[in-house]
Amino acid sequence: MYPVVLFLHSWVRWIVAVAAVVAVARALYGWLGKKGWAKLDDQLGLLFSTSLDVQMLLGLILYIFLSPITRAAFKNFGAAMSDGTLRFFAVEHILYMVIAVVLGHVGRTLSKKATQATAKHRIAAILFGLATLAILLAIPWSRPLFRFG
Ligand code: HEM
Repeated sequence: MYPVVLFLHSWVRWIVAVAAVVAVARALYGWLGKKGWAKLDDQLGLLFSTSLDVQMLLGLILYIFLSPITRAAFKNFGAAMSDGTLRFFAVEHILYMVIAVVLGHVGRTLSKKATQATAKHRIAAILFGLATLAILLAIPWSRPLFRFG
C-alpha cells in the first residue's frame, strides 16, 4: 500500500504543478490584458483546486498511516525537530501545503463571487500565485522527480 500511495503522490505533484503554473499564467494574462472571464478560466481554477485536494488526501494518508518518515517523527516529536528530514515532512511540508490548499480554494471562491472580469482575474492571479509559491517552496525537490516503481 505504501509504495502505491507514494507513487501516486509523487506523480500527482506534476498535475498540481502544471495546473498551478497554467492557472496563474492565464489569470495574469486576463488581469493585465483586461480580458473577459471565459469558461476556460473557471475550468483551470477547478483543475488546480481539485488536483490539490486529491494530492492533500494522498498526502494525509501517507502522513497519518503509511509513511515511515512521519512514523519515526511521531515516536519522539521533540527530537524529530532537530532532524532536518523528519522536521520537513512532519511540520514544514504539511503546513505549507495546507496553506496552499486553503489559498487555492479561497482564490477560486472569491474569483467566482467577483462581478467584474478584471477583478476575477486579479483575485485568481494573486491567490493562486501565493498558493503556487507555497507549493514550489514545499515540494521536496531532493526526492525522485519521476518515481518508477
Ligand atoms: C496536506 C497535504 C500534504 C501532506 C499531508 C503530504 C505528506 C507527505 C508525506 C508524509 C510525504 C513523505 C512520504 C514518504 O516518503 O514516506 C510526502 C512526500 C512528498 N510530497 Fe507531500 N503532502 C501533502 C501535499 C503535497 C503537495 C500539494 C505536493 C505537490 C504538489 C506534494 C509533493 C510531495 C512530493 C513530491 C513528495 C516526495 C514523493 C517521493 O519521494 O516520490 N505533497 N508528502
